[in-house]
Amino acid sequence: MQDAVSVSHGMRGYTAGKLWNIDTVAVLSRIGKVAAAMTAATLVEKFEVTHILFTGVAGSADFGVSVGDIVIAEALVQHDMDASPLFPRFEVPLTGLSHLPTDRDLSERLAGAARTFLDATSGPRLHRGLIGSGDQFIDDAVRLAALKDALPGLLAVEMEGAAVAQVCFELGIPFAVIRTISDNANENAATDFMHFVKTVASRYAFEIIKNFCHA
Ligand code: ADE
Repeated sequence: MQDAVSVSHGMRGYTAGKLWNIDTVAVLSRIGKVAAAMTAATLVEKFEVTHILFTGVAGSADFGVSVGDIVIAEALVQHDMDASPLFPRFEVPLTGLSHLPTDRDLSERLAGAARTFLDATSGPRLHRGLIGSGDQFIDDAVRLAALKDALPGLLAVEMEGAAVAQVCFELGIPFAVIRTISDNANENAATDFMHFVKTVASRYAFEIIKNFCHA
């Protein structure tokens, strides 16, 4: 990042500067829905960002989605939201929505950036569709199967995206979410996750965001 200035706020380090000529604020969201919601709201309210891109890793929730593949969200759902019988299961109370849509233009540009990256590597594939977020690391095939049954079309599970989606929906901020698959959300998930984040994830994010900024 050029002309980078770092600010510490609320246990997070926000770094502002130019990323390939785009004014950017980069920050680690921390883990879980509350942490991600706080980070997203702070980006908007304190740092006055106008768009949000979320990058990270996820567990696969579909047999066609493999470790190393990329998933770009078309919509996100909070898979642990259940205020029934007051509201239907998964619906975020008082929004009328369970599936929170991402911004079409940002997601399209992100998909182009991911395709350029994947064309240069052989093997991994790009998927677009539904991502589920909850305050649970899923490492249990039975629990995953129950989520897949309840949420048709679910491609991946993680712990932040749908919280960022709710904040952006409520504040009117266009956003997109891209995840690299680090594990299969089964009994090996924790080991696979640690290995993947240490060795691969940041390279994916760096190359794709570089392509995104150059597009
Ligand atoms: N992020 C990466 N892998 C995950 C998993 N299996 N469950 C929840 N979040 C994840």
